[in-house]
Amino acid sequence: MSSEEITHILDTSESMKEVSTRDVKKVPVLRGATVVNLFFEPSTRTRSSFEIAEKRLSADVLNFSLSQSSIVKGETLLDTSRNLVAMGASVIVIRHSMSGAPWVLARELNSSIINAGDGSHEHPSQALLDLFTVREIKGDIRGLKVLIVGDILHSRVAGSNIWGFLKLGAEVRVAGPPTMIPSYVEDFGVKVFYNLDEALDGVDVVMMLRIQRERQEGGMFPSLREYSKFYGLTQERLKLTDGDVLVMHPGPINRGVELSSEVADANQSVILDQVANGIAVRMAMLYVVSTGSLS
Ligand code: CP
Repeated sequence: MSSEEITHILDTSESMKEVSTRDVKKVPVLRGATVVNLFFEPSTRTRSSFEIAEKRLSADVLNFSLSQSSIVKGETLLDTSRNLVAMGASVIVIRHSMSGAPWVLARELNSSIINAGDGSHEHPSQALLDLFTVREIKGDIRGLKVLIVGDILHSRVAGSNIWGFLKLGAEVRVAGPPTMIPSYVEDFGVKVFYNLDEALDGVDVVMMLRIQRERQEGGMFPSLREYSKFYGLTQERLKLTDGDVLVMHPGPINRGVELSSEVADANQSVILDQVANGIAVRMAMLYVVSTGSLS
């Protein structure tokens, strides 16, 4: 996505956020449309907020139940999706462990496909809600110093946020153990740090990531205790930044590992703002794909 397309979604999200302040939090934008949530991996925030967003736009919503479906009998992702489209699904929101799964559907089907997280690749709705949250509080993304900490190698949140923040003119830094930072990020213009204390100097935003144990083959670091000592964000470390820093986390948090409980619940933490903004941003995404207003 270009910076103009990202900005268009963020601007649309502002209008959608206003809808959520009304007594009746509903608009008829997707009345008559059928949206399917097709989640092949667990989710709390993304799945719930897409469902709320779809209902606020008045869509008919089908939450596809994987364990009760014919996928367990061997039906493929593509055949399953074709059948859902045959039943009238005009938008499919998909989360899948395979990087590129949404692209396969987008190539093969005429319906709109929204990526709700694919493998270690991308999580665009998360990055858009993160950009929206930072823009809402800081006013502008351009010129901000944004630090992303942790398992950059396996994190689709990092992948999409690096893209989005760079596109909107931020300086992006990453910090973590060398085993978790892919060498190619420097080619994107990202500054790499292996020492968290040095990386925190002068930052406006620090985004902590969960270690993606489900995507690791092991041996990335000696122990969780050691990881937390060198790369966990504590109140002590937060003092290395100025008071205006925003602490972000896409969730789920592993309290006491990448983030101390004190920091997770501190005034600088905007973690629940991110979650709340997820509804408006996902309403905007559904709106732009349904109306074609991006193209
Ligand atoms: N941030 C995020 O994707 O959380 P869930 O896995 O709970 O959806």
